[in-house]
Amino acid sequence: MNTDTMRAAPDRAADRSIVLEARDLRKHYAVKRGVFKPMATVKALDGVSFQLQAGRTLAVVGESGCGKSTLARSVTMIEPPSAGVLCYDGRDVVGRSASEMKDLRRTVQMVFQNPYGSLNPRKTVGSILTEPLVINTDMGKDERRARAVAMMGKVGLRPDQVDRYPHMFSGGQRQRIAIARALMLNPRVVVADEPVSALDVSIQAQVLNLMMDLQEELNLAYLFISHDLSVVRHIADAIMVMYLGKPVEHGAKDVVFARPRHPYTRILLAATPRVNPSLRLERVLPKGELPSPLNPPPGCSFHKRCPHATERCAAEVPALRPVDDRLVACHYAEQMN
Ligand SMILES: Nc1ncnc2c1ncn2[C@@H]1O[C@H](COP(=O)(O)OP(=O)(O)O)[C@@H](O)[C@H]1O
Ligand code: SF4
Ligand SMILES: [Mg+2]
Repeated sequence: MNTDTMRAAPDRAADRSIVLEARDLRKHYAVKRGVFKPMATVKALDGVSFQLQAGRTLAVVGESGCGKSTLARSVTMIEPPSAGVLCYDGRDVVGRSASEMKDLRRTVQMVFQNPYGSLNPRKTVGSILTEPLVINTDMGKDERRARAVAMMGKVGLRPDQVDRYPHMFSGGQRQRIAIARALMLNPRVVVADEPVSALDVSIQAQVLNLMMDLQEELNLAYLFISHDLSVVRHIADAIMVMYLGKPVEHGAKDVVFARPRHPYTRILLAATPRVNPSLRLERVLPKGELPSPLNPPPGCSFHKRCPHATERCAAEVPALRPVDDRLVACHYAEQMN
């Protein structure tokens, strides 16, 4: 990503109340391993807690398979979590009735990674953008269209393109359409699952700048999911690094970037090609693949790939605990300087 084209994070002084809180969120899937074998459990999400303030961005990072999309589906209730507490504006939403869920759908919206797959190719931009209003409001047709046209302007699309189809737009423009659709119901929280990962590097900064501008204007809270630390360092206020369904390091962005305390965060940072060279840590690439969540290693789930692992790590699960202004799950976090 071309960092020169990124704008500095805006100075925000608006409402900072907690709009979303997750406590010990879990999502377990029962899967078949074979015809004669008993069912097994994939702990895709295994105890995730965080708070998200209005107007702020929590970035969730980790390699493919660590549970990021499962977290996105759980917090948006696309797939309700198996356990845990999920509060929007202080109200627990797990197990609510259908009509209460309708309110939730207005509070939280999602932007997906793939703007090609997430937009209906047979619908015009106008009908894609007005659809949430048809379903969730009693607005008349003219007002819906006027709102759609206004939203196109807000996300940097030409309003005269309202009757065009998704395939007539570039990848970056399609992601602008997806963002516009997410904002049609004035949500307070937007969950964005790898929203720029499918885009050319040159386009990524434009879409991130748009998201930051919209955040400032609308005081949106973002749960921003990415496998790429170089993307989140511009947009995030806080960072949660996940490994095999669990947070391993969680804290303010500046704190985590300045001195990561978990070996996995350190490796992710070292493997990020475009980080500031002064932040570059020893180049230790992860040994081996992400273990199967069907059969996670005992002790610290990272120990088979960790350059600092000891016997204790293979036996004892490290608790997520406060160290040096952030939470970290490593027995030796204090020594990771
Ligand atoms: N519906 C499902 N059934 C069984 N396992 C699943 C399901 N969805 C995700 N998983 C598993 O959960 C883990 C986390 O997946 P995912 O949340 O997609 O990770 P990420 O988005 O970080 O790549 C993976 O091991 C994946 O195979
Ligand atoms: S607990 Fe041990 S294996 Fe796990 S990250 Fe820390 S040093 Fe590495
Ligand atoms: Mg994913």
